[in-house]
Amino acid sequence: MTNNIKKGKFLTFEGIDGAGKSTHIAYVAELLRQHGKQVISSREPGGTALGEKLRELLLQEKMHLETEALLMFAVRREHIAQVIEPALERGDWVISDRFSDASFAYQGGGRKLALDKLNALEQWVHPDLQPDMTLLFDVPLEVARARLDATRELDKFEQEKTDFFAGTRAEYLRRAAEFPERFRIIDSTRPIPEIRAHLDTLIAQLCADADPL
Ligand code: TYD
Repeated sequence: MTNNIKKGKFLTFEGIDGAGKSTHIAYVAELLRQHGKQVISSREPGGTALGEKLRELLLQEKMHLETEALLMFAVRREHIAQVIEPALERGDWVISDRFSDASFAYQGGGRKLALDKLNALEQWVHPDLQPDMTLLFDVPLEVARARLDATRELDKFEQEKTDFFAGTRAEYLRRAAEFPERFRIIDSTRPIPEIRAHLDTLIAQLCADADPL
C-alpha cells in the first residue's frame, strides 16, 4: 500500500510484558474519537478470526523459533489484508496492540533470531506499510515483573526469564533510536495521570498533522 492510497493513520502500542500498555489503549481510542476520528482497535497476534486461533497456539505451545516467527508474520499478513488496509483506505484510524516491532523485540532481541530474517519477513509481508506512530511503553524489568506476578496465570512469553526480557527491551529501545520519526517512548513508571497528559499532547499533535488548517 502506498501512502497516497492510505487515508487513515496507523498507531501501534508496544512494550515488554507488564509495561502497562493495555491500560492506555482504550484511553487513546477514546481521545481519537473525541478528535472526530473513526477508530478500529485491534491486536497481534490476533486481529482476525484465523489470527485469534493462531494466537492460542502461539501463546501456549512450544515450537521452533523460526516457526514462531513465521506464524507471527502469517497472522500479520491476514490482519493487514482483512483489517488494517481496508480500514486505512476507508479513512479510519487503526490502533494495534503490537505489530512488527514486537517480532523484532521478542523473536529477535529475546530469542535471538537473526534480524536479517525478520527484515526479510517484514519486506515480504508489509514492504510499504509502517505505523504513523508507535508508542513504546518502557519500564525497567523489575517493575514489569512485579506488575505481571500480581495478576493472572502467565502465558508462554510471560514465563520467560530476565535475560529474555532484557534482550526484548534492548531491541525495542534500539529500534526507537533507529526510527525516531515514528517512535515515542512513554516512561511507564510515571503515574497514570501524567502518562495521560503525555498521550493527550502526542495525539493532539498527530491529529493536527493529519488535518492541517
Ligand atoms: P500481549 O500483547 O502482552 O497480550 P496480553 O496483554 O493479553 O498478555 O501478548 C502477546 C504476546 O505475544 C506478548 O508476550 C508478546 C508476544 N509477541 C511476540 O512474541 N511476537 C510478536 O510479533 C507479537 C505481535 C507478539
